[in-house]
Amino acid sequence: MKNEPQKTFLDPITLPVIQKHFLSQAYSFQELMMMYSCAIREVRTKLEVLNDELSMRHRSNPIEFITSRIKQPLSIVDKLKRYQVPVTVESIETYLNDVAGIRVICPFMDDIYAVREMLLKQDDITLIREKDYIRAPKPNGYRSLHLIVEIPVFFSDQKKPMRVEVQIRTIAMDFWASVDHQLKYKQDLQNPEEISAELKECADVIAQTDLRMLSIKKKLYSDEGEEPSSP
Ligand code: GTP
Ligand code: MG
Repeated sequence: MKNEPQKTFLDPITLPVIQKHFLSQAYSFQELMMMYSCAIREVRTKLEVLNDELSMRHRSNPIEFITSRIKQPLSIVDKLKRYQVPVTVESIETYLNDVAGIRVICPFMDDIYAVREMLLKQDDITLIREKDYIRAPKPNGYRSLHLIVEIPVFFSDQKKPMRVEVQIRTIAMDFWASVDHQLKYKQDLQNPEEISAELKECADVIAQTDLRMLSIKKKLYSDEGEEPSSP
């Protein structure tokens, strides 16, 4: 089996970063990253199981695709510095909720809340924090449902509760967020305000389109009860 954390954290570019900032904690740092990577696998598997089950029972998948990532060591260091806390392995666990991140992309808006319910219903998942940027979008137009969940991961000598950030959004919201993300990293723009305003307009159009697509879905399946039935 492929060993993800070793592949990610022992490469010749990343290792010096860890050694520089975490000094004698380089080993613990890598161990913690391995643990976050295991937590991602646990939550991902839960989501994949739900998707497989529902796509068998119904005609459609509530999940279009899932992506995941471990926060890069330099981003971890930057965030700890921004929070003005010591750059230590202990601080990562205490102050950061997004070292392990999963993004769930759903076709329709109601799938987002269905996935949320099904995930949080599981008795080994604890909801730590929730931000609903769909009901209350950010001023720039960003929409997405953010959950910080905790899941116990079983290692050889301990059961460790690990935090994972789960972002759930529609395909359209994801398209918007990826363009917005590109805007954040563009330094040399002549008219950033104009682009932000245009993006905000697009966010509103996308939100309306998501609502209309949901209403079309409901019309398509109105004769079959709430959910599409099996073929
Ligand atoms: P961070 O320090 O950014 O993690 O903020 P936070 O802890 O207050 O978390 P929040 O839930 O607001 O946002 C966490 C993540 O959501 C970010 O790291 C991004 O991946 C995503 N996100 C939040 N706001 C935006 C946005 O305006 N545009 C895009 N493209 N992504 C966003
Ligand atoms: Mg973040």
